[in-house]
Amino acid sequence: MMYSKMVENAQKPSEQRLFLMKGKDVLSAYQFNKEELSVVIDTAAYYEKALVEKRRLRNMEGKIMAALFYEPSTRTRLSFETAMHRLGGSVITIAESLKYQTSSMSKGESLHDSITVVDQYVDVLVVRSPINGSAEIAANAAENPVINAGAGAGQHPTQALLDVYTILKEKGTLEGLTVTLLGDLKYGRTVHSLVDFLLLYGCDLIFVSPKELVMPEDITNKLCNKGIKIKETDNLLEAVKDTDVLYVTRIQKERFATVKEYESVKNSYIVDDTIVKKSKEGMLILHPLPRVNEIAVSVDKYPGAAYFRQAANGVPIRMALLSLTTGNVL
Ligand code: CP
Repeated sequence: MMYSKMVENAQKPSEQRLFLMKGKDVLSAYQFNKEELSVVIDTAAYYEKALVEKRRLRNMEGKIMAALFYEPSTRTRLSFETAMHRLGGSVITIAESLKYQTSSMSKGESLHDSITVVDQYVDVLVVRSPINGSAEIAANAAENPVINAGAGAGQHPTQALLDVYTILKEKGTLEGLTVTLLGDLKYGRTVHSLVDFLLLYGCDLIFVSPKELVMPEDITNKLCNKGIKIKETDNLLEAVKDTDVLYVTRIQKERFATVKEYESVKNSYIVDDTIVKKSKEGMLILHPLPRVNEIAVSVDKYPGAAYFRQAANGVPIRMALLSLTTGNVL
């Protein structure tokens, strides 16, 4: 784990700030105001400092988190589970795809009913599903806080929180940065969430994608109405010359109606040594992962290639979310 200045200088947030999110669900990035965003970041930095200093945290002792994953995951599920263990809490898990189910959803039970039941066993629920709007269904069914761990092509707010945390650790600020979002901007829930945070910081945005996968118009309209400067292009080589943070996404096979549609765009962009050498000095390269072909393995050696450090940041961010939403802080 990278011990940045931000983590080294982390202070315990005030009691008043620590209870700002108590009892709240985390369903989208756009629900956050800047104060809530900053309390998550500050709490995560404080927890990361504790992890680096090997201090034992026990504020979730006796509490149980349900990880209900109806779509594959490595980072999100395991970093939530790690976060809960690091805080002294316990975890129960359903990890299945809609195709290969072992839970009673295979018998026809609705998400609403499943959540109503599990809610009575635990203190906080973390839900991933391939269906847009599933987090809202879960939140309506549950009394306890529900955290959206990725819903279809909609939102993935906890990923966006760790993305912002990573940029702050690596760059020291987001103010004045130009962020380029590359790849599947149509179905990419990580970028749909990330732009909501980038607009709070007033970043300039460049969108690079094949024409079939451009950012949905409702999102570009929202950004324009908030005064955010956006450039849309298909020329990656030109874009990286002005880019401070390049956020790469996978073209997601699972979101296409047919394999043919996926095949037609799958290798549209590959970030390789040529791209990195033409880029603005100090350009940070992020990716929510998993990576398929969109970043060449040879790029991993560059100091700005931060995607594996980014994945590590999922643990302190999710520690912060679990404790802030349940009110079991520090
Ligand atoms: N970034 C992300 O959501 O990864 P997983 O699908 O492995 O959870």
